[in-house]
Amino acid sequence: MSEKAGRRTAPLRARAEIDLAALRANVRTLRERAPGAAFMAVVKADAYGHGAIPCARAAVAAGAEWLGTATPEEALALRAEADLPDDLRIMCWLWTPGGPWREAVEARLDVSVGALWALEEVTEAARQAGRPARVHLKADTGLGRGGCQPGDWAELVGEALRAEREGLIRITGVWSHLACADEPGHPATAAQLTRFREMTERAEEQGARFEVRHIANSAATLTLPESHFDLVRTGIALYGVSPSPELGSPADLGLRPVMRLSASLALVKDVPGGHGVGYGHHYTTPGATTLGLVPLGYADGVPRHASHTGPVLVDGKWRTVAGRIAMDQFTVDLGGDRPAAGAEAVLFGPGDHGEPTAEDWAQAAGTIGYEIVTRVGTRVPRVYVDEERA
Ligand SMILES: Cc1ncc(COP(=O)(O)O)c(C=O)c1O
Repeated sequence: MSEKAGRRTAPLRARAEIDLAALRANVRTLRERAPGAAFMAVVKADAYGHGAIPCARAAVAAGAEWLGTATPEEALALRAEADLPDDLRIMCWLWTPGGPWREAVEARLDVSVGALWALEEVTEAARQAGRPARVHLKADTGLGRGGCQPGDWAELVGEALRAEREGLIRITGVWSHLACADEPGHPATAAQLTRFREMTERAEEQGARFEVRHIANSAATLTLPESHFDLVRTGIALYGVSPSPELGSPADLGLRPVMRLSASLALVKDVPGGHGVGYGHHYTTPGATTLGLVPLGYADGVPRHASHTGPVLVDGKWRTVAGRIAMDQFTVDLGGDRPAAGAEAVLFGPGDHGEPTAEDWAQAAGTIGYEIVTRVGTRVPRVYVDEERA
């Protein structure tokens, strides 16, 4: 669901403004942090909730040579619908048996292969499609998630080389993913980089020639030049959210938050002291006060765990969620202030107009900024704004 700024006919209940100029600026900043590497904009999960197609186009306009998604369906949709250059590289990595391999080969996607079953399926699809598949061999260098264990690597590489000799695949990349890059100095990161180099060299000794070697996510792109290799894959930082508080705020990292989530107050009313608020009456007004009703709830991605803690800017003041967040709405105690119904309540944004940030909500909900932006539901219209700053 999206709506262009300026074409609205009625005020919206709520909106997620997406600042495409900020996204482009973030791409430029991140590219400067990894000057020797190509740049992949990770736009999986609907661009972390920001809208895959507009964000993909903006990232490419700012210089991204690659796009990355988790599922093949996400990548196929980009190829079919985003009107991007035909030769733009699009990679996807989360495959299950019986996946749309043939469609992926025909759409010239780069695909990840980290197991023999996947190699068998992709080579069969290439045979049917009559063109070679572009394959990135995935090494499990320590994350313990997808990818091939070091002990099984020689066999996977050997079989991939055989398929390459038969003209069924081109081994375009070798890659892996880091477990702890958002914790500076964590020993697992150095160990993973060492294993990645070793596994790459072993594959090269077997005869593999890689166009791109890649392992860096946002945190590694920002803090670990030795992880950049030929390509960096950045997700969260593109959207101007810090990978973790330990790395600093978006401003510390030179990034600008892209999403601003706000709603129109549905109601403002006077209530006496001792009035229960919300399901379970987990908040009771300490004295006569005013309550504001924010028409957003957990169905819109506002985390219920932020009941009693989530911050909201109303009329220039930070207010806190009063009581429980419900499916569609929650209440804030306005402490006697009386903004009109329809006044804006800002849950989060860049923070430079006094509003909370996604990181503030992450802290309030005991989660990470990634989850705050990615979960904003489809019921919230995305409103794209695009104004370059001086
Ligand atoms: C394989 C892979 N690469 C890159 C990324 C981007 O990570 P980040 O959003 O931390 O930059 C992700 C996201 O989880 C991922 O799964």
